[in-house]
Amino acid sequence: MANSIEQEIGRRRTFAIISHPDAGKTTLTEKFLLYGGAINTAGSVKGKANSKHAVSDWMEIEKERGISVTSSVLQFEYEGKCINILDTPGHEDFSEDTYRTLMAADCAVMVIDASKGVEPQTIKLFKVCVMRHIPIFTFINKMDREAKDTFDLLDDIEKVLGIETCPINWPIGCGKEFKGVYERASRNILRFEAVSTGGAKEAKETIISADDDNAADLIGEDFYDNLMEEIELLDGAAAELDMDKVHQGKLSPVFFGSALTNFGVEPFLEHFLKMTTSPLPRKSDHGEIDPMTEKDFSAFVFKIQANMNKAHRDRIAFMRICSGEFEAGMSVYHVQGGKDVRLSQPQQMMADERKIVDKAYAGDIIGVFDPGVYSIGDTLTTAKDKFEFEGIPTFAPEHFARVSLVDSMKRKQFVKGVTQIAQEGAIQMFQEYKGGMEEIIVGVVGVLQFDVLKFRLENEYNVQIRLENLPYEHIRWIENKDEVNVDTINGTSDMKKVVDMKGNPLLLFINEWSIGMTLDRNDGLVLTEFGRN
Ligand code: G4P
Repeated sequence: MANSIEQEIGRRRTFAIISHPDAGKTTLTEKFLLYGGAINTAGSVKGKANSKHAVSDWMEIEKERGISVTSSVLQFEYEGKCINILDTPGHEDFSEDTYRTLMAADCAVMVIDASKGVEPQTIKLFKVCVMRHIPIFTFINKMDREAKDTFDLLDDIEKVLGIETCPINWPIGCGKEFKGVYERASRNILRFEAVSTGGAKEAKETIISADDDNAADLIGEDFYDNLMEEIELLDGAAAELDMDKVHQGKLSPVFFGSALTNFGVEPFLEHFLKMTTSPLPRKSDHGEIDPMTEKDFSAFVFKIQANMNKAHRDRIAFMRICSGEFEAGMSVYHVQGGKDVRLSQPQQMMADERKIVDKAYAGDIIGVFDPGVYSIGDTLTTAKDKFEFEGIPTFAPEHFARVSLVDSMKRKQFVKGVTQIAQEGAIQMFQEYKGGMEEIIVGVVGVLQFDVLKFRLENEYNVQIRLENLPYEHIRWIENKDEVNVDTINGTSDMKKVVDMKGNPLLLFINEWSIGMTLDRNDGLVLTEFGRN
């Protein structure tokens, strides 16, 4: 018998996976699919042979560079649960979309390289998770390599990220001697064995209680003694597993493993599914919209992808469904546009292909054809009560460039092009404070977006531009802009005042020190890293 809508929603889990490049995010994702049965042999999803970014090749620039400019969503089934993983692209393709993806997830899995600890990109993504108070689960990866001391790794997470940790399991050995993990709640030892090279097939595991007389034999006397010592120390020092704190994003359950050899992947999935909840309620201007009680369909747009099919110059708007059921071709009310729209060509990403979906439920992500009407943060709903979901913040760009036209006759196309691209959320556009449209400053989260801008202006709008890099690395919104006189803000000599397209004043800085100085010099000035749309 088919599931009811409530059952379908109840079995959904939607999470984002975050890490610094090379910590093993792709490998771990692939292993989730392997254990979920979505693929038979690891290596087939984002295998290196057919390029690890094989998931999308929608834009020409991607093909030229062999990199992915988009973030993708994968869906798979595991033990009756329907799981959506949102990938957060790193490397040069790090962009504001990477941050926005986190707005569509109900929790995050943070992958950390056991030999490196917390790295810069993880910190950036982590901050956004904290802002949203979503649960953060930590998977300490690459235990099959020489790892940092386990206690030091936990200390690193607590100190650098400022979140409490609670190890759910504990590694036994590391490097070539990585034998398995000890599960604290059950006191079971899981001894892993690889059954194929590179973890193409699921690892074999032997489970034995740590209190069993044969436990020491199974992992070796020395490892057993060491484990018992560490566990005693840990039980005395580690935080209790307080699920309220986990759900508020204040305490991170920690797991150890090796995505490459599959060690610890399945135990992680099992615990993770028990500790996470079905799709969470979302804030709107009419209170919280809870998928468990709101029957009507509602969704918000968190990403707009242009030119996925060059022949049609189409745009795809990606939305997170927050309540109810979606059916292909359904008519819904677009709140910001003020009219009904038909959601056509709905698509979902499955492993390495896009497929057309007929039905989707709260928790799922779908991409629909966008004839140029949607903006980031827009709400769509069939509810009579036409609420709007809370907007998506604007994230601080870290790279800035002054844009000028090669041919000044092309001004009109140029303004149209940059405005359109900014509306899609690929770049942020600024003007000199009290200046005009003569000078445009563009801010991006990842430098690749400059190339995307140049490429798209040339190819779609027939406009050539010059980009002059500016030295600013930090931008701050003025939280109390109505209370301060921007004219009189007295900053460091290298501070620059600009305005965004909505006329909000912002400040650009070269370094953190200048931000501190400016705050010191201007009593009552409140600056923030996230802008409100
Ligand atoms: P990312 O998506 O976070 O950027 O990382 P990715 O999974 O692509 O992994 C980066 C590199 O680390 C890959 O090696 C991958 O095989 C390796 N790796 C991932 N998980 C583990 C692990 O648990 N243990 C070990 N030892 N290595 C791991 P590469 O050299 O870039 O590619 P490859 O040619 O070896 O596949």
